[in-house]
Amino acid sequence: MISLNHQVLVGESRRSAQISLVMTILPGLFLLLLSCSPRVEQDRYRVGFLMETLKEERWQRDRNLFVAAAEKLGAEVDVVACNHDDNLQLAQAEAMLAKGVDLLVVVPHNGDICATIVRKAHAQGVRVIAYDRLIRNCDLDLYVSFDNERVGELQAQYVVDRLPRGNLVLIGGAKTDNNALLFRKGQLNVLQPLIDSGLYRVIMDQWATDWQPAEAMKHMENALSRTTDIQAVIASNDGTAGGAIQALAEKGLAGRVLVTGQDAELAACRRIVAGTQSMTVYKPIHRLAEAAAEAAIQILKGQVVHRATDAVPNGRIDVPSILIEPVVVDISNIRQTVIAEGFHSEHAIFD
Ligand code: BGC
Repeated sequence: MISLNHQVLVGESRRSAQISLVMTILPGLFLLLLSCSPRVEQDRYRVGFLMETLKEERWQRDRNLFVAAAEKLGAEVDVVACNHDDNLQLAQAEAMLAKGVDLLVVVPHNGDICATIVRKAHAQGVRVIAYDRLIRNCDLDLYVSFDNERVGELQAQYVVDRLPRGNLVLIGGAKTDNNALLFRKGQLNVLQPLIDSGLYRVIMDQWATDWQPAEAMKHMENALSRTTDIQAVIASNDGTAGGAIQALAEKGLAGRVLVTGQDAELAACRRIVAGTQSMTVYKPIHRLAEAAAEAAIQILKGQVVHRATDAVPNGRIDVPSILIEPVVVDISNIRQTVIAEGFHSEHAIFD
C-alpha cells in the first residue's frame, strides 16, 4: 500500500514533472524552431545592415558592394551606422526588428555587447550574420570575414623578412573589435620568437581607440619622444599607419622606417608608391560582400550555406564561418593585385 501510494505519488509527480518539463521546454523549442526554420518565401527579403562607421573608405565600399549584391539576389537592404556608439547600435537593431526585417547583418562596434542584438533577433526568429567582425558569446548564425590572424602574420612576416634585428613600435586597433585582437595575435605568432631572442625590442605597444588615426599619431609621437631609433612600425591598418607616418614625417623619418598597414586604402596605396608606407594587406571586399549577401539569401530560403566550411569559436559556440584569404601588397605587386582587380585605378594610385 505504501509502495503503491508511493508509486502513484511517484507516478503523479513524474507526470506533473513531465508536464512542467514540457511547459518549460515548449517555449524554448518553439523559439528554436522559429529561429531555425526558413523565413517564408517572399518576393523581396528585407535585410538590415548595421554598420559601425561609414567614415572609413573601406566601409563605404563594403556598404556599396553588399547592398548591390543583396539587391541583385532579391533583397532590399536598410543600412545604418552607429558611429562607434554601442547604445545607438543596440537601438538601431531594435528599430530594424520593430520594422520587421527578415535578417540582420552586423558589423559590431563591440563584439561582446552585440550579443544582445543576436539574442533579441533570435527571440523574433530573425537570424544574424556577423560581417567582418565576430560577435562573441552568443548563438551567432554565421560569421563572414577574412582570416584575420593571418592578416597579422602577413604584416609581421613582411617586417621580419626585411629586418634581421631592430626596434619596433606596435600600434593595434580598437580593443573592442575582436579583429584587432586577432591581428595582434597573428603579429605575435611571428614576432615573439625574435622578441624573446633579443633580436627585436618593442619600444612601445599601444592600441588606438576606435581605430582613430589621430590616436595612432599620438602614440607614435610618444614613442619618438623616447627614441628615434625605431626601425619598424607594425600598424594594424592603413588608418593607423597613416597616423604613425604623419608623426614620423614630423621628425623627417617617413620613408626610413618600415610601416605595415591593411585595407589597401587609396591613401595607403599612394603612400606605398611614395615610399612612406611599406606594405598593406589587400582584402578583396567584393568577395566578402558577395559571400555575405549570398549566405543571407540562402539562410532566408532555408538552404545550406555551402561556403561556410570553417568554424570559429566565439566563447559559446563554434560559429559556422566563411573566411577569405588576405593578400600582401607592396610596390612590387600593386599592379598585379589591387589594380588588376579594379580595387583602385592605376591613375588614382600613381598620378
Ligand atoms: C577591419 C579592418 C578595418 C578596421 C577599422 C577591422 O575590424 O577588419 O579592415 O581597418 O576594422 O575599421
